Amino acid sequence: MSSDDTRHRFRDQVAVVVGGAQGIGKGIAVRLARDGAEVVIADIDRRMMARTAREITGEGGSARAVFCDVRRRQQVDRMAARVVRWHGRIDILMYIAGVGKGVPFTKTDEKLWDWTVDTNLKGAFFAARAVVPHMIKRRRGKLVFMASTNSWDAEAELAPYNVSKAGLYLLAKTLARELGPYGINSNAVGPGLIRTRLTAPMLKDPRFMKKYENLIPLGRLGEPEDVAGPATFLASRDADYVNGVLLFVDGGQLA
Ligand SMILES: NC(=O)c1ccc[n+]([C@@H]2O[C@H](COP(=O)([O-])OP(=O)(O)OC[C@H]3O[C@@H](n4cnc5c(N)ncnc54)[C@H](O)[C@@H]3O)[C@@H](O)[C@H]2O)c1
Repeated sequence: MSSDDTRHRFRDQVAVVVGGAQGIGKGIAVRLARDGAEVVIADIDRRMMARTAREITGEGGSARAVFCDVRRRQQVDRMAARVVRWHGRIDILMYIAGVGKGVPFTKTDEKLWDWTVDTNLKGAFFAARAVVPHMIKRRRGKLVFMASTNSWDAEAELAPYNVSKAGLYLLAKTLARELGPYGINSNAVGPGLIRTRLTAPMLKDPRFMKKYENLIPLGRLGEPEDVAGPATFLASRDADYVNGVLLFVDGGQLA
């Protein structure tokens, strides 16, 4: 195996990618499978998660898809129980599911607040709560939460999104402290602007793009593949001594 051959990096490891049907989550699911993991995608988008699982198995990887709305605790519990029934264990939890919509604060209603915070933060609590007891029993596990540059830097018209992502970072840090003694690492990833369905409306606005490109020292937007490497690093043996960090993947936007 050459030094850059990572096909065996996650051999015999079971990874659950919550929100892995498309975008950044898909990039991560594909990368984990290419590097040998048995991947389970949990998402609400049945069509896209089936397509992504097919793409992975089509190239010789292992992937299954389970419907799961992260806002419903019973569905999250059932999903985790199914993964354990299928594979006997969960080594990696990637919590990627997330939503956001730019709305002025004076127009932000309770429905938008709950949709955003429940998906981005409460769902992460449900997922970690369901998976961690299995990891504690085996005294190993890697938790990776998809936070954002917005966990650190507030963006106007995104109050519930900013708050949920700041909370997610603190959840990752809390679990780093509390679960470290059980051999479990907990970290977060903070992407900047990545080209996905979530950001498509902004990417169509030339004024937004002009402003944004000037903010990124590397002078370009990120692609899901730009996030997959750093996120899977945090799930790998190479990151065994990395615990409680927020790893920004933003082309230097926050530098
Ligand atoms: N795209 C960016 O610029 C960017 C930047 C920073 C952080 N992020 C974060 O990365 C993550 C992925 O975003 P993306 O840009 O790939 O968006 P995306 O819309 O392409 O993917 C989000 C995924 O989450 C799933 N999802 C949404 N609600 C769900 C629910 N209730 N239950 C289960 N699954 C659900 C969707 O079906 C989808 O597959 C999000 O947490 C987002 O906040 C994205």
